[in-house]
Amino acid sequence: MASKDRGKRLLCHCLSVTWEEVETTVREHHCRKVSEVTRICGAGGGCKTCHYEIEQVIREVRREEKRFFEKLFCGLFPSRKEK
Ligand code: FES
Repeated sequence: MASKDRGKRLLCHCLSVTWEEVETTVREHHCRKVSEVTRICGAGGGCKTCHYEIEQVIREVRREEKRFFEKLFCGLFPSRKEK
């Protein structure tokens, strides 16, 4: 499912937390673990069946941040092959 389509849909049904709320939590609090997301917004604090989806959001946000920083610092730290 494309990320823009899922925003308002519930990711965690037990705690009624949407995909968008989880994504915002991961971005704003730099979460790297499901337990951090659970502590902040509650998602994943019930039956735990949504933990895979929360991990998916964490991976997506981390990947986006990695691409952003690679682009930002492109050329400043050339790899050994480029020297
Ligand atoms: S659906 Fe998220 S804890 Fe149950």
